[in-house]
Amino acid sequence: MFITILLFFAVCLVFLYDYKRKRSDRWKKLSEFPGDTPLPLFGNGLQLGFDADESSHKQLTLWEKHGKQTFRFSVGSEDWVLLTDPDDIGVYSLIKYKSSLMGIESNKLLNPDDPYLEASEKVIRIITYNFFSYWRNIDFLFSLTPQYTEMMETIKTIKQTSSEIIETRREILTKIIKKTQSNNKNVDIDLEKIIENKLNNVGCLLDKLLLSKSADGKPTPDDVINEELSLLCFTGHYTTTMTISHTLYCLAKYPKIQDRVFEEQQSIFNENLQKKPTNNELNQMKYLEAVIKESIRVIPTVTKIGRQLKNDLTLKDGRVVPAGISVIIFYEAAFKNPKVFPEPEKYIPERFLNPMHAYAFVPFSAGRRNCIGFRFAWVAMKATLSNILRRYEVLPGEPGTEPQFVGRIITESKNGLRVKLKKRIL
Ligand code: HEM
Repeated sequence: MFITILLFFAVCLVFLYDYKRKRSDRWKKLSEFPGDTPLPLFGNGLQLGFDADESSHKQLTLWEKHGKQTFRFSVGSEDWVLLTDPDDIGVYSLIKYKSSLMGIESNKLLNPDDPYLEASEKVIRIITYNFFSYWRNIDFLFSLTPQYTEMMETIKTIKQTSSEIIETRREILTKIIKKTQSNNKNVDIDLEKIIENKLNNVGCLLDKLLLSKSADGKPTPDDVINEELSLLCFTGHYTTTMTISHTLYCLAKYPKIQDRVFEEQQSIFNENLQKKPTNNELNQMKYLEAVIKESIRVIPTVTKIGRQLKNDLTLKDGRVVPAGISVIIFYEAAFKNPKVFPEPEKYIPERFLNPMHAYAFVPFSAGRRNCIGFRFAWVAMKATLSNILRRYEVLPGEPGTEPQFVGRIITESKNGLRVKLKKRIL
């Protein structure tokens, strides 16, 4: 009897909360956006189903249902506004908030079983499952699950890798500094300045972290450097390597476009197709750049990013996203927006050779907290693809190996991504 009364009160509370929520000022603003009425307690969460790999696809279907425009969605009591129109994405960029990278040789990608690569893949998987699970977002409950233990183990592996990189680079940096000091011992000029100049030529981002000082003038502690480095390794490698793989897959699928990429490479390198590209040569690869962009458009590297608003955000058309809401750039939908990308289902790199809305295509996000690695990413992706495509023709994988893409935090293929490489006769 007691339990029944308790349940009755709990249900009454849920409905009361829902009643109040739907009469709030916040809800009034939110209802300006298309979306389904959220259920008490669950919101629209049940529409996502229980398979995290399917949820992105289901959200895309909802976007279509609501007229292929910015729409709202609620998970539990949390409300999201998913931005898919360039004008709205442009406003997102205004939200306010209170080269070589590591300088060491590392060939982790040569070994697909490398613990660091495995760890990164695992962390992405766990974060994705948490992202779409209401209860696993509650830290205490998550800490009781086996996934929490697995995540802690993988973070240990990532940090261990970062520690090894830091130690290796610190040795190299010490040698560079000692050599610069001994070469300039009789010179009466600011040694720190000379070292800084030297590192501008041969240094890397990690050197800046190793030589940085905290506010009290002491060297930045190793654990802080480790966290920064882990973040950079983690955010940097998976995104660029996935984009490179997706681009190779697209080029295998569209051989005429691959021919055009190769022609561009020939026109830049002439007879010298084996050489490493310079910055100037990379800048000339306009068609390759368009191909990478079109590959990101059809297979979005990052599927969504978002912010929780501290203040109301007024969109260009006057609608207001109220404070407390999560605004999300829904890349998978934004990149299929037919108003911006006519015939969105077609792979047409040429569309990126023409000017377009400044916020039509911002895969690295926009505004103050956009991707800090985007310049590095472009150099890495263009150089790697140029090196591969000059030497090999990329062909589709065996029949039956067609990838099954799913929108996790990064788009991945559930069954791997297979292409064949045929050596070009140079
Ligand atoms: C194709 C490659 C890449 C894509 C598509 C990409 C995309 C993104 C996106 C969408 C964000 C979120 C920004 C936001 O929340 O508004 C981000 C953040 C970030 N990215 Fe990238 N990224 C790429 C490569 C890289 C590389 C190579 C590095 C590092 C070397 C890197 C480092 C970071 C970091 C540290 C952040 C967090 C910035 C912050 O929160 O302040 N990314 N990236």
